[in-house]
Amino acid sequence: MIDLQKVCYAYEHEVALRYIDLHIEKGDSLVIQGPNGCGKSTLIKLLNGIIFPSEGSYFYKDHEISEKTLKDRQFAKWFHQQMGYVFQNADTQLFCGSAEEEIAFGPIQMGLPEAEIRQRTEDCLRLFGIEKLRERPPYHLSGGEKRKVSLACILSLNPEVLILDEPLAGLDEKTQDMLTEFLQDFHKAGKTLITITHNRQLAEKLGKRFAVMNEDHELETL
Ligand SMILES: Nc1ncnc2c1ncn2[C@@H]1O[C@H](COP(=O)(O)OP(=O)(O)O)[C@@H](O)[C@H]1O
Ligand SMILES: [Mg+2]
Repeated sequence: MIDLQKVCYAYEHEVALRYIDLHIEKGDSLVIQGPNGCGKSTLIKLLNGIIFPSEGSYFYKDHEISEKTLKDRQFAKWFHQQMGYVFQNADTQLFCGSAEEEIAFGPIQMGLPEAEIRQRTEDCLRLFGIEKLRERPPYHLSGGEKRKVSLACILSLNPEVLILDEPLAGLDEKTQDMLTEFLQDFHKAGKTLITITHNRQLAEKLGKRFAVMNEDHELETL
């Protein structure tokens, strides 16, 4: 389903990915580990079509993902709906006036019927136990609350692939357990998970396959 072939990426003065070959099947759960600065977040940005290979190619369901192919708005919409990406920093993701609007935003953009939008919004509020936050402006919420709202936003799109960068960071124990269980169920439902985490327990609970990035920005699948 996801196929990276000899992908390289460099920021202006900094190589971040070096000849990455990665193949992920539908229903896989891949955990990626590696030291700070090795390129994990860069890899995730690339998988999400936020940045593009400087060299090599990226295919999703046999479609090439590049700056050029994502210029087709229909295609870009389809692709971004398939990929659910939870940012490491929730602040960059939240911009609506209330948590409820924030969660409904994606489904509205997808052009879903109103009843479906309402249903998905309610389901996601309930899933994360954040019904009480529905009218609050997201930028006034606590870190953990923001994280829940941004997860709810992603899941309201019903993505095929969920990509997470340190999903448990900054969450209290109860929320960590709830989220871990949710992610296990998401995987059991046949969805694809890609998780970056330094949390050994989470890695053990979620990982079906493991990969490590090294300081030379290469990826070794184990
Ligand atoms: N926007 C950027 N501009 C320049 N260099 C960057 C940028 N983002 C990340 N880098 C550099 O690219 C390398 C990989 O970063 P990153 O993918 O964030 O690593 P990780 O997530 O594994 O900690 C690091 O050396 C980092 O300093
Ligand atoms: Mg990172």
